Amino acid sequence: MMGPVIGPGPEPVVPEGPGPDLLAANAPPASSPGHVTWGIEPTGPLRGDVRISGSKNAVTKLMVASLLADTPSVVTNAPRLGDVDITAGMLRSLGAGVEIDGDTVTVDPLSTTGSRIPISYTGLNRVPILMVGALLHRIGEAFVPLVGGDRIGARPVDFHVQALRQFGAEVELTDEGLEAKASRLRGAHFALPFPSVGATETVLMTAAVAEGRTILDNAAVEPEVVELALLLQRMGARIELQPDRRFVIEGVAHLEGATQRLGGDRIEAFSYLVAGLATGGKVRIFGCGQDRLVTAISTLQRMGARFEITDDHITAEADQLRPAAVQTSPHPGFMTDWQPPLVVLCTRAAGMSVIHETVFEDRLGYVDALRSMDAEVELFEQCLVGEACRFQESGSYHSALVRGGRDLRGAEVEMPDIRGAFAYVIAAAAAEGRSILHGVHHLERGYDQALAKFSDLGLRITPT
Ligand code: UD1
Repeated sequence: MMGPVIGPGPEPVVPEGPGPDLLAANAPPASSPGHVTWGIEPTGPLRGDVRISGSKNAVTKLMVASLLADTPSVVTNAPRLGDVDITAGMLRSLGAGVEIDGDTVTVDPLSTTGSRIPISYTGLNRVPILMVGALLHRIGEAFVPLVGGDRIGARPVDFHVQALRQFGAEVELTDEGLEAKASRLRGAHFALPFPSVGATETVLMTAAVAEGRTILDNAAVEPEVVELALLLQRMGARIELQPDRRFVIEGVAHLEGATQRLGGDRIEAFSYLVAGLATGGKVRIFGCGQDRLVTAISTLQRMGARFEITDDHITAEADQLRPAAVQTSPHPGFMTDWQPPLVVLCTRAAGMSVIHETVFEDRLGYVDALRSMDAEVELFEQCLVGEACRFQESGSYHSALVRGGRDLRGAEVEMPDIRGAFAYVIAAAAAEGRSILHGVHHLERGYDQALAKFSDLGLRITPT
């Protein structure tokens, strides 16, 4: 029998975290930006090799999952990112031991006695909400401050809250964050109204050691979610991924620490391939499997890119780019985080491209700055490609028409969020004249050694 559907209902939505100023002020020292502004001198086509780092969107989740075990877990091929330092800081604040040695992160959960994430972590990223299930299992209560993350849509946590309640937790939302308590957590059967990555991760981690069986329908099946499920399985969890976005989890009493190597970051991989294409160059990426990039590759092929694909590298180049008609959607669709670089690429294609963002309703705000670089992009409230989406009546400008072919001009702009930040670097590299990009901390939160990697491709960047 189908369980209750977790729906928006009357559930209060946890408001967005504080704005960038407060984020910067609160950031622990390890993640504070080294350089906040980049001067970029276009140097022609970007060419060369890029070693792709482990996935940003998986590493922090694997660190949190370590809390569910009694012995240490180890994540290898971890990217060096602000988000890893922030998550390590949160885990340490609970008493867990965290060691970061190069690309290896070890989390020892044994000494975890705290249940409250300090308020100073308010708004830094989306990780605190994912800790609630593990803390309820370990300690029986949890406080997590308001979650943040990029300002790309409302980003409520109502699916998480309703899932936790169905596991039997008492959850209260306050002005400061979320308080939860549970003496026992029991498996449940539910369906997500939208296949949310974060909510699926909350359910997987909470269900792994809950009593009885959990069935989650309409789950997210992004490669990073599957990576978390694989770690949990290594730790002793009983998890099945069935057809039609269904996870079935039989709770176990106890998990042991495990070791896992992270897969390559498919967002970083796509972004560097596009950097090559947008500048008329040729980038070869190592360290991210083709299986994580299938839709990315087929989309770029439709735009005229030619690929060389082997077991250890992927190369893309193009003589002439064609326009695209693309709708973002949950995996295996075209990923929302690939959308900003794609829009920049569309400005380089001869003709009119159409983009429909269906995952985050405000993920096109960054195009204002592209316009100041002479990109011709118009935003629309309507759903312009594919089927009407959840945002059709929302009044949010979530579709874009891009007229390609016109030269971009360097400009002085402020980076808005992680993915928009990378898109601006690509635009600056493809433009005529110098650009000044402020807010490089956004980029550094999400891309491992971006300065070195772009420099290796020939781009002249002057950090100040
Ligand atoms: C994760 C990724 C992000 C990626 C996104 C979608 C991390 C740190 N971030 O974000 O890079 O763009 O997946 O692939 O892994 N929603 C609700 N209520 C909830 C939860 C989600 O309405 O409780 C909505 C969101 O507002 C959004 C959609 O569901 O419209 C998808 O969100 P979700 O998949 O949860 O994104 P994140 O996990 O935050």
